Amino acid sequence: MARLIARVKTTPLDAGSTKRTLKEVLKRIPIEPSGERPDVVNLEHWFYPNTARQLQCLQEAIMKVRTPAVLDFLMVCFSVCVRKVSLADPRLSVPVRLRLGQYPKKHPLREKSDSHLRRLRRVRVDEIFSRIAQANIARMERLQTAISRTGLAEILCSDARKLRHEYSLNGSRNKPLADESVQLIITSPPYPGAQKYIRSCSLSLGWLQLCPAADLRAYKACIIGREEFTNAERSRVPKTNIAEAAKLLAVIQSRSPIRAAIAATYLDDMRIAIREMYRVLKPGGHAVMVAANNRVSGLEFCTVDYLRDIAEECGFHLTACFIDAIRSRGLMTKRNHTANVITREWVLILSKGGVPEWGR
Ligand SMILES: C[S@@+](CC[C@H](N)C(=O)[O-])C[C@H]1O[C@@H](n2cnc3c(N)ncnc32)[C@H](O)[C@@H]1O
Repeated sequence: MARLIARVKTTPLDAGSTKRTLKEVLKRIPIEPSGERPDVVNLEHWFYPNTARQLQCLQEAIMKVRTPAVLDFLMVCFSVCVRKVSLADPRLSVPVRLRLGQYPKKHPLREKSDSHLRRLRRVRVDEIFSRIAQANIARMERLQTAISRTGLAEILCSDARKLRHEYSLNGSRNKPLADESVQLIITSPPYPGAQKYIRSCSLSLGWLQLCPAADLRAYKACIIGREEFTNAERSRVPKTNIAEAAKLLAVIQSRSPIRAAIAATYLDDMRIAIREMYRVLKPGGHAVMVAANNRVSGLEFCTVDYLRDIAEECGFHLTACFIDAIRSRGLMTKRNHTANVITREWVLILSKGGVPEWGR
């Protein structure tokens, strides 16, 4: 899904012909769906039946678009639409069924005459989709101008722990990204157990047919910072090779073996990803990494220090470090009473030694 969105956001489209395609799609929406029930996790829980039916009809109309770039664009708009017409609380990134009682009486979501849930009962999915698509077509026009200055982007890889040409346009598929081939890396890796990335996009993953509901669990296991562990995995907490982290993890282990497994596995995965970053960077190249500390089992987990230790162990030098207060809490969820809300982020500027190409 990240690749699909990245591709759409970097592929210019002709606004005129995209608008025409949008019109045709809206015109050919069937009254009843002809395909099978979509494989979306807990479909009935997240959508009123009438909404799910409309979404399915709209999707069938979109799928008939023949131009791949326009199809991708409309599917991303459809994904935004899915979330907007779902019964999930629009203020949270992770789907949580909206309970109006949680909001104060005068809140716009629960205005007596026309509450959000009542509006959803008679929602016109085609109108919402059309509005989203038109706004995005206008953004696409601006992209055209930007891209004429920067050139096209190419979306290559999936897993940060194994940087490969998986989706190269020139057909050189499934080859590792060459050693010393990248000038600059800018990355915002996950925090240990801070976000439920797969759950956050589970509705879109299902509707876009990117992940059957039954496979969500397997996908969760591929995420850096994953939270679900088998009993066997819980008892085998990986070694971190970081003295401070090891001390802390021993205490966490005595309080909560699962939290210790989450945190230690996170550091282990990040070591693999950072080693991979170092491998592909050119000598003299830089990696810019955003990180934050958080609490694990009520104890301060100094993720920033540990990532820095790992980076130095891999050969990086820290050349600068900036601190930024997080103003928007759009994505922040207070997971449980022993995990706090992250309020500051660090930006680490890491350099790979050696003489850069332009200095030789
Ligand atoms: C802190 S967020 C950064 C989001 C991104 N900067 C953006 O603006 O959308 C961390 C991201 O890392 C992704 N991620 C988790 N495990 C990954 C892995 N093994 N390889 C690549 N990305 C991963 C998560 O899905 C999440 O989108």
